[in-house]
Amino acid sequence: MKIFLDTANITSIKLYNDMGLVDGITTNPSLLAKEGGDPQKTMEEIVRIVKGDVSLEVVATDTSGMVEEGRRLRKYGKNVVVKCPLTPDGLKACRILTDEGIPVNVTLCFSSNQAILAAKSGAKYVSPFIGRLDDVGQDGMSLIKEIREIFKNYQYGTQILVASIRHTMHVVEAGKIGADVVTIPPDILGKMLKHPLTDIGIKNFLADWEKLKKENPSIRI
Ligand code: E4P
Repeated sequence: MKIFLDTANITSIKLYNDMGLVDGITTNPSLLAKEGGDPQKTMEEIVRIVKGDVSLEVVATDTSGMVEEGRRLRKYGKNVVVKCPLTPDGLKACRILTDEGIPVNVTLCFSSNQAILAAKSGAKYVSPFIGRLDDVGQDGMSLIKEIREIFKNYQYGTQILVASIRHTMHVVEAGKIGADVVTIPPDILGKMLKHPLTDIGIKNFLADWEKLKKENPSIRI
């Protein structure tokens, strides 16, 4: 399973990228607004820091606007994936950009029907938003299961990018289903790292080592 970070926060991106955990990044206008400053500079910096795919979203709503923006965004770097919304214009833009060799992440997917159409329009990734479905009382994870099954039946090349992740169990469940990518907010990745037994274990090992050092003051590893 590939891990993308769902953020435009440079500090978090550097932190987890240095740990070798980041296969890619997803951003959107809301994540950029959260960071403030110049969004263009932020996007360029992210593309420079991360080697893997970085999804940058268009804001035009018509096909030609999306295609123009997509071409401009792609100039930031060879690892840019253009994020287009799952609308008729978005899918048309996806086909045009894909045919030009510019990969597309079709975003704001909320049904299997939409995911099939994203695959048919040549998307490299489709992003079902599971947390937002959970928010309105629909089971987001069953959507991932269904899309996985459909894509397997027809060997669609489009990768399932699980988005709108709200907690660590979403990541585990997505992994069990065999989703290709999970895009995780930095605070949730931080929680994945933690276990109280790890902290207790380290504390006890260090205390025992101190005991040994008292008996043999010159020892070292
Ligand atoms: C994914 O590409 C989106 O940026 C993101 O996962 C949306 O998450 P949210 O529902 O928490 O805003």
